[in-house]
Amino acid sequence: MCSERKVRLGVIGSGKGSNFVALAQACRGGNLVAEVAVVLSDVAESGILKHAGGFDLPARFIEPGKFRTKLDDAAEASYVAALREARVDVVVLAGFMRILKGTFLSAFPGRVINIHPALLPSFPGLASWKQALDHGVKVTGCTVHWVDQGIDTGRIIAQQAVPVLEGDTAETLHERIQQAERVLYPQTIGDLIRRGTLKPAST
Ligand code: GRF
Repeated sequence: MCSERKVRLGVIGSGKGSNFVALAQACRGGNLVAEVAVVLSDVAESGILKHAGGFDLPARFIEPGKFRTKLDDAAEASYVAALREARVDVVVLAGFMRILKGTFLSAFPGRVINIHPALLPSFPGLASWKQALDHGVKVTGCTVHWVDQGIDTGRIIAQQAVPVLEGDTAETLHERIQQAERVLYPQTIGDLIRRGTLKPAST
């Protein structure tokens, strides 16, 4: 009898949580053969934690420590401990606004992924949709990539193009990119699982 368990996702975010909702719905609906094991955030009042409660999933705020753009050593250890305690196989960054260092990444080698609202390597960093508008590009999009210690520099896994339309504002373009993200992220994680690139850590 095949009793292989589902891949367990640990989702980490700082913001409103629309990507998390898409992932949780895909897991519930069976389109993504995985389960959300835990949701963590560095922002106590974040939308992602509220949404996790709505799905009745374990969710925790964990203090990020004294830095603005990364976790301090103690915080990083707390995040790793919470993910291990939840027996997470894959760490899914969904709007987490801090850089992860080597100690975190080596706890989950080849198992940390992120989604970015541009066609990397163009427009890494903040407000990528605004960077795209300011440059006048005609096509932008979103990218799922492996996470390394740089800012949006990890190897690319999948991308979806989104056209920039005449009259787009930062808000309309951002919303269209996010709609694409909500399709691309669950689909890409599902593909990685089907191919066996992502699998339960113990198998
Ligand atoms: C997404 O646009 C993602 O690309 C970026 O952060 C945003 C998070 O949005 N890394 P949400 O919290 O999932 O709504």
